[in-house]
Amino acid sequence: MSTKRIHLLGFVQHGVNSHATGMWRHPKDKVGWNFARPAYWQHMAQTMERGLFDAMFIADELAPYTTHQNSSDATVKYAVQCPTHEPSTIVPIITTATKHLGVGVTLSTAFEHPYSMCRRLSSLDHLSDGRIAWNIVSSYSKSEWEAYGRDMAMREDRYARLEEYMEVCYKLWDSWEPDAIVADKETGIYADPAKVHVVHHDGQYYSCHARHFCAPSPQGRPVLWQAGSSDRGRDFAAQHAEAIFAVHPNVERMRQYADDLHDRLAKRGREPGSVKLIYGLQTVVAETRAEAQAKYERIKALIPPEGALAWISGHFGLDFSTYDPDEYVQNIEVPGIQGLFESIIYAKGGAPVTVREAATIYAQGMGMPVLVGTPADIADQMERFADEGGADGFMLIATYTPGCFEEFVDLVVPELQRRGRYRTQYSGTTLRDHLLEY
Ligand SMILES: Cc1cc2nc3c(=O)[nH]c(=O)nc-3n(C[C@H](O)[C@H](O)[C@H](O)COP(=O)(O)O)c2cc1C
Repeated sequence: MSTKRIHLLGFVQHGVNSHATGMWRHPKDKVGWNFARPAYWQHMAQTMERGLFDAMFIADELAPYTTHQNSSDATVKYAVQCPTHEPSTIVPIITTATKHLGVGVTLSTAFEHPYSMCRRLSSLDHLSDGRIAWNIVSSYSKSEWEAYGRDMAMREDRYARLEEYMEVCYKLWDSWEPDAIVADKETGIYADPAKVHVVHHDGQYYSCHARHFCAPSPQGRPVLWQAGSSDRGRDFAAQHAEAIFAVHPNVERMRQYADDLHDRLAKRGREPGSVKLIYGLQTVVAETRAEAQAKYERIKALIPPEGALAWISGHFGLDFSTYDPDEYVQNIEVPGIQGLFESIIYAKGGAPVTVREAATIYAQGMGMPVLVGTPADIADQMERFADEGGADGFMLIATYTPGCFEEFVDLVVPELQRRGRYRTQYSGTTLRDHLLEY
């Protein structure tokens, strides 16, 4: 059997904290860097490109969480994914500072018409020479709907809208024939209108009558990325996604997920390998185990308990401050991100997890498995997740930036390369080329 090679992505947010609540307090976090300035993003991107990552992946929310005590006070107070600046604004900064690194950008369909979404994504794909992925989300948090002055749509309705949204997007992206642009200066004809089709869509939720305003971009359409994890979300991913981002705390849960997804793909006549399964992972690496463990303890000590509660309340749509901290989360039904909640429920291998523990586990790294150790320890586990858990690659969640990515690139990447598990150079030009390379 040939050695399975892996993909790597860096998971970040255009904000002070990314995902590890407490990160900004770390003595090594952003020393001399400002997250709101281009130099920081250029350095982060160049570090990931030095490590031959497929992409930097930018998460997003549209407003501060308000579920905790019906207020955003704790969200603001403890920098719980707040402040967060608009994600697509940094994409050209990242792609002009790099040549190969892709960018996955999270953009919500909830409050934007597909026409402008397609136009923005096609423009970014042009400007990056074909290195864009779109993380398709539909806004699961009540604060986002409050911010836009709308009643929150429930999960079923969000997915029904999303199906139609995608239909409009495909129509727009496919509407220019490849040879539509003539650019004949002699005749003065730039494009052949017979080959630039007018999109006519009158559906249940969207209406669109126009030509797509952008000429075909290098990838034609961005790489479609998805992280929905409910039953409906998995079907949507199996139908549309080229890559999936999922979080599972152990190899058994990873295997179950991979098998389930492969069944859903097979039902749609899609090959399992055509959709890349990228699992979330947090690493704390050092040259010795003792050093790595000490680093890990220091990171954990920075988590603010109330900020942690505010985060799980935001992501799962329930005010966890009203629960007994010793109640088991297994007994609680959540309306928010189901898949991520399951990552907590199984965080202790099936042993019960209390609300207090859940908040801490989540605030540390969103329920992702945490690998603490030497480069060889970390590579051992990554190999296991790939071979036994079905991972095609890993989304690395930050502990402090840019240091955690620098350390990973300097210490773990060479170890993976020595084992034949990772590329030693980029082979293609677009993000899709790199994802499909192996
Ligand atoms: C690993 C992971 C990362 C996600 N990142 C985001 C994000 O950055 N922004 C967002 O609005 N939703 C995000 N989501 C939410 C989902 O994409 C999805 O919209 C939500 O989970 C509701 O769908 P579901 O009920 O099918 O899970 C994420 C979900 C997962 C599992």
